[in-house]
Amino acid sequence: MIDLGDPTPVPVLARQAPRHRPAPRLRPAGRPRTSRARSSRKEGSVVPLHITAVQAMEILDSRSRPTLSVSVGLADGNTARAGVPSGASTGSGEALELRDHDASRYGGAGVRTAVGHVNGEIAAALCGRDFAGLSALDQALIDLDGTPDKSRLGANAIVGVSMAAARAAAGQAGVPLWQGLATDGATARLPVPHFNVLNGGAHAPNPLDFQEFMIAPLGAPGIAEAVRAGSEVYAALRRRLAEAGHTTGLGDEGGFAPDLAEPEEALRVIVQAITDAGYEPGTGGVAIALDPAASEFRQPDGTYRVNGQVLTTSDMITRYRQIVDEFPVWSIEDGLGEDDDTGWAELTGALGERVQLVGDDNFVTNPAIITRAVQDGIANAALIKLNQIGTVTETLHALEVCRKAGYGAMVSHRSGETDDTFIADLAVASGCGRIKSGAPARGERVAKYNRLMEIGHRHPDLPYGLGR
Ligand code: PGA
Ligand code: ZN
Repeated sequence: MIDLGDPTPVPVLARQAPRHRPAPRLRPAGRPRTSRARSSRKEGSVVPLHITAVQAMEILDSRSRPTLSVSVGLADGNTARAGVPSGASTGSGEALELRDHDASRYGGAGVRTAVGHVNGEIAAALCGRDFAGLSALDQALIDLDGTPDKSRLGANAIVGVSMAAARAAAGQAGVPLWQGLATDGATARLPVPHFNVLNGGAHAPNPLDFQEFMIAPLGAPGIAEAVRAGSEVYAALRRRLAEAGHTTGLGDEGGFAPDLAEPEEALRVIVQAITDAGYEPGTGGVAIALDPAASEFRQPDGTYRVNGQVLTTSDMITRYRQIVDEFPVWSIEDGLGEDDDTGWAELTGALGERVQLVGDDNFVTNPAIITRAVQDGIANAALIKLNQIGTVTETLHALEVCRKAGYGAMVSHRSGETDDTFIADLAVASGCGRIKSGAPARGERVAKYNRLMEIGHRHPDLPYGLGR
């Protein structure tokens, strides 16, 4: 059981935060600062960690860009590895992904600097030390970095260490990762997978401005049946697209990337595919979820450009209302730009009772931002991405904020992924009831769904579904 400690307010990442700050003074080597560590200790519930090794290397992600593989070793002999994900349509408030900017390697996208930070400063600071639990270790990483956006050591370096340490800690406790990630008040459940079957926006070279068209088997009786539905609809969609003369090439998240330009055209063919595969379109069977990723097509003058049309915020809201009226869309993520605050409030007022409205680029998995959004009545759910905030503990805090507020939460992959399946266990542990991990195709996407099926197979007692 991970004790999240006191609900310490997490600093809001300043939008305009300087990317590089002077290095903070390092505390002398030795025991960690104990106040936080002590507050995290809870008899019998926190696994003490003695770190013996921390190592990283540069590997490739699913888009052929460098990322980190990090391993953490514990004194009891447990060692675990983590692969770090990487986004393309990122929110401006995300913790900083450190890249080398050395144009002679990988077009500047190398991560040797971040690898060097893990193998050097982070390893030196952690090895040989005891931590009361994962939250104490994550706090030590945050303190060592010393910046609000983890830009000194790199959020990619820090999140890799945090994920590997969480996995090693579960190994030490002799439990599967999802049980190791358990927190007070959360009840484990298998989430509804949201399969991204049609890609556009920053994830595909087609003219489609909306980024993600997902299918969500809300009506499935269990995770195995949900995965089967996702795969069967995906196959039916391939047939429909091929028959209509479209290319069936894939986008970054494994969904098809046909030459469709209007979002409604894409929705129409997806509904046909759901029916072709023998499922009922809608919340009783297979529903649709959208992630337009609207920040990507918001213009400097505040308008939105969809298939060449210039739309105001209220035009966009009208468009979404028509979409929800016509199609079985149950969830819309990033329907408006990350800085369109008044628009988000209007959108929530207009559609918040009818559909799930998910904040991603505007919330960046930051517990303080989500807390404020809950208070301000912005959206009704948050997307949860480990590398947006940069440690497992802060990610668990974000999930806890959502749970306590009765707000939805959807655990998410990134468009650049590895074979790491951490998010499957995270979704199960939190009981949030929703996950998105791309298409039911391509190894790095399928790995997460297969892990969910494995958990479901081993624990048939775990419930499946949204949970409310
Ligand atoms: P990204 O896209 O990983 O490229 O940021 C995912 C999303 O927008 O949800
Ligand atoms: Zn998104």
